[in-house]
Amino acid sequence: MTDLMTGPRIDDLAVWPASAAPLPHNGLAVGGVDLAEVAERFGTPVYVLDEGEVRQRCRAYRDAFPEADVLYAAKAFLSRAMVRWVREEGLGLDVCSAGELELAVLAGFPPARIVLHGNAKSPYDLGTALRLGVGRIVIDSPSEIARIAAAVGPDGQQKVLVRVVPGVAAGGHDKVRTGTDGQKFGLSLTDGSALRAVAAVLGQPRLVPAGLHCHIGSQITDVEPYVTALRRMVGLMARIRDVHGVVLPELDLGGGHGIAYRPGEPALDVPALARTLRGELAASCAVAGLPVPRLAIEPGRAVVGPAGVAVYRVLAVKHTGGAVFVAVDGGMSDNPRPALYGVRYAPRLVGRSSTAAPRTATVVGRHCEAGDVLAAEVELPGDVRPGDLIAVPVAGAYHLSMASAYNLVGRPPLVAVHEGAARLLLRRETLADLRHRDIGG
Ligand code: LLP
Repeated sequence: MTDLMTGPRIDDLAVWPASAAPLPHNGLAVGGVDLAEVAERFGTPVYVLDEGEVRQRCRAYRDAFPEADVLYAAKAFLSRAMVRWVREEGLGLDVCSAGELELAVLAGFPPARIVLHGNAKSPYDLGTALRLGVGRIVIDSPSEIARIAAAVGPDGQQKVLVRVVPGVAAGGHDKVRTGTDGQKFGLSLTDGSALRAVAAVLGQPRLVPAGLHCHIGSQITDVEPYVTALRRMVGLMARIRDVHGVVLPELDLGGGHGIAYRPGEPALDVPALARTLRGELAASCAVAGLPVPRLAIEPGRAVVGPAGVAVYRVLAVKHTGGAVFVAVDGGMSDNPRPALYGVRYAPRLVGRSSTAAPRTATVVGRHCEAGDVLAAEVELPGDVRPGDLIAVPVAGAYHLSMASAYNLVGRPPLVAVHEGAARLLLRRETLADLRHRDIGG
């Protein structure tokens, strides 16, 4: 990436927010705010979210997909401020629980621009969706079709999409590959389940079949799997037209857009994806004799991931068994991703200059498991010591939204940084918070 003012970006800031700027004494500012100051003011561990980077990423999506609905996938990260930014930037929202949906609507998000997902929607999820007037509900299993129709009531109507498994294998890890049969999401294209579900929807006058949905996986860095999925989805739309005489107006291709966690890693080229999908959609629809449906996409990680930074304080440095362990005050309770998916991060020392030669060290957390590793075998200055600050970029997606209360440590706060100002969005979870839930007995 090239910055017009400063020339090529320093390579090791390549995965940082565009606003990341070196300060004297190895300091680093994000959103115009010194990370060391954030650590001082709000304590550690602390998550920092660059509002400008989130907004810029929303705009980049809108620019790339002006004709489509861009629905931010709330599961990556949600807070009231995030809801507002996404709304102001003109995106829709993808939610998968009453919790996400209620938060969004309470924070002022128009329900008509929200899509509700879920392979196992509870009665409360569905009741909330219908009460709040959610725009679309995505059907993920045959049993919910009659349930939703009954819950809509005699006077209402509900737009639904049918989630299809198009038989495309893609994604950064087995646990996030959802495009083939043999996993829990969606209805198979190959065994006819998807077509049968569409028929069942058509048999329910309270349900409006708005279109088809697929989400083939997450952390996908190539355009090609999306093209294959698109062609198969258009094929199914043509089949539905042939069998039922119904032309579905919408096609939602889900999210999964991959990002780089370390310098040099590949990321999905979003403008290229947009160009290719536009061309393929027009071409496949022309061949099938279908009108071009309205496209929707659901990026989560690529909107918010690169906008977040986690800042930890080093509590202990241990040389043992030939390895160096740098233990920090957070870990798998705020970032379970290395343990779950083997993801590698590129942490760096911030706020203190060091002339010591770099040394290979493993950054570990404070939790009671050997698998509580934040970054295995990374280069850090050889004199890293307790009290130092370690910052981990690309921490905005699936960190806080997946954080747990493991070991009763409490979840870190989230601080928004923008144009030189820092403000608290989520306060730290205190030990009192944790104790309050425990009502004794
Ligand atoms: N749409 C649907 C229906 C989804 O299930 C997901 C993610 C998305 C959109 C957004 O995908 P994204 O653009 O963020 O890749 N915890 C994992 C990722 C799980 C993704 C689950 N579904 C991780 O930390 O990598």
